[in-house]
Amino acid sequence: MNVYDSARMADILSPLGYSMTAEPEGADMAILNTCHIREKASEKTFSELGRLRNMRKSKQASDEGDMIIAVAGCVAQAEGKEIMKRAPYVDMVFGPQSYHKLPEMLAEATRGAGQILDTDFPVEPKFDSLPDEAIDTNLSAFLTVQEGCDKFCAFCVVPYTRGAEFSRSVDSILSEAKRMIAGGTREITLLGQNVNAYHGEGPDGRTYSLAELIQELAALDGLWRLRYTTSHPLEMTEDLCRVHRDVDILMPYLHLPVQAGSDRILEAMNRRHTADEYRRIIDKLRGYRPDLALSGDFIVGFPGETDAEFEDTMQLVRDVSYAQAYSFKYSPRPGTPAAALEGQMIEEKIKSERLAALQALLNEQQLAFNKSFEGREVPVLLEREGKREGQLIGRSPYMQSVFVQSPTHRIGRTATVIVEEGNANSLRGKLKPGDIASAA
Ligand code: 5AD
Ligand code: SF4
Repeated sequence: MNVYDSARMADILSPLGYSMTAEPEGADMAILNTCHIREKASEKTFSELGRLRNMRKSKQASDEGDMIIAVAGCVAQAEGKEIMKRAPYVDMVFGPQSYHKLPEMLAEATRGAGQILDTDFPVEPKFDSLPDEAIDTNLSAFLTVQEGCDKFCAFCVVPYTRGAEFSRSVDSILSEAKRMIAGGTREITLLGQNVNAYHGEGPDGRTYSLAELIQELAALDGLWRLRYTTSHPLEMTEDLCRVHRDVDILMPYLHLPVQAGSDRILEAMNRRHTADEYRRIIDKLRGYRPDLALSGDFIVGFPGETDAEFEDTMQLVRDVSYAQAYSFKYSPRPGTPAAALEGQMIEEKIKSERLAALQALLNEQQLAFNKSFEGREVPVLLEREGKREGQLIGRSPYMQSVFVQSPTHRIGRTATVIVEEGNANSLRGKLKPGDIASAA
């Protein structure tokens, strides 16, 4: 979502004469869009700010003018005051819910009003004040439909930094999607911290579910592929499971984090479901869409996690079998309930061992998944040129990166690829002779 937000900030600034640069060096303004989800991500803010400060100094020294430095995103939201104190050279600090006010903030900052801090959660949603003209028209692009989270998992900062759940109206999403398609987008990934909790106002005043929104989007001409991320198991409603069977442009890949496999840990995490309930959701989804590829997020070493409880996570992974996954060591986040479980913190060494064991299993599953494609034909949306001469890179319906030798003019089309090799992180294949479909 930070990628999407950064693109929206660029849209907002473009009428003011700003355009995106490839590198921060020499820029008139640098916006650091930050992530607060884990300590590691969050720490990067200050080291990156140090780099930007040096760039600003060398720009000033070479008499090429000044560089405005801004910090956006969730670290700004959570630690705005701290940033202003530790980095007094920062001009603007604003959270994810106030970037639509960038022009005002910028005007103030350039007027010499001192450091600007805006971490409000405004009543009027920012989406109403984002410009219409410029939108992401990449072949494959993101579209935020929902933001924020009311789930309050015990380890997570999102409900505090992104705020309460908010769903955009169906009309505003459809018109953004239409503009994207008109600009050349063929694949849209619907975004939300809790995307399947979507409940937006429909054109008839009724509240639409994510399943209904997906059906509306699937009816748009020119859209070939749809995806959505990230979902919570509790919101995998019957109608949403069913669209995986009924909507052919909905790709057979789902990121459905479970975090842990032990019921006691799931409860302590406030996930509000058991490991078996998760297994049953997966069974139901696979009933509707047998080839559905699954992805997940896992946390090892949550406070108090025993060896046996970690083993429950391993067992769950064996039972589900993932095509892809992200896994993390638990990292205490300021202000979250789990961070207060002081006496129960797990030693770093144990966390590392558990993470290594889990990742070995997940990597094995991912490789086996990719290998199972050898000899098969897959439709690949060709997105860009690869590093090697004559090579294009695209994605399979299952989110795998696919490398294929192909003429460049085929970028933007869906090609049938015969997979020759399934590797740890990608597939490699050749174009099926004579077959280049124009739609997915
Ligand atoms: N420590 C480790 N991982 C975390 N995540 C969220 N908060 C934490 C934390 N405090 C992980 C979860 C979530 C993903 C986006 O980041 O697995 O699904
Ligand atoms: Fe964080 Fe996701 Fe839990 Fe919300 S549902 S609190 S975003 S982990």
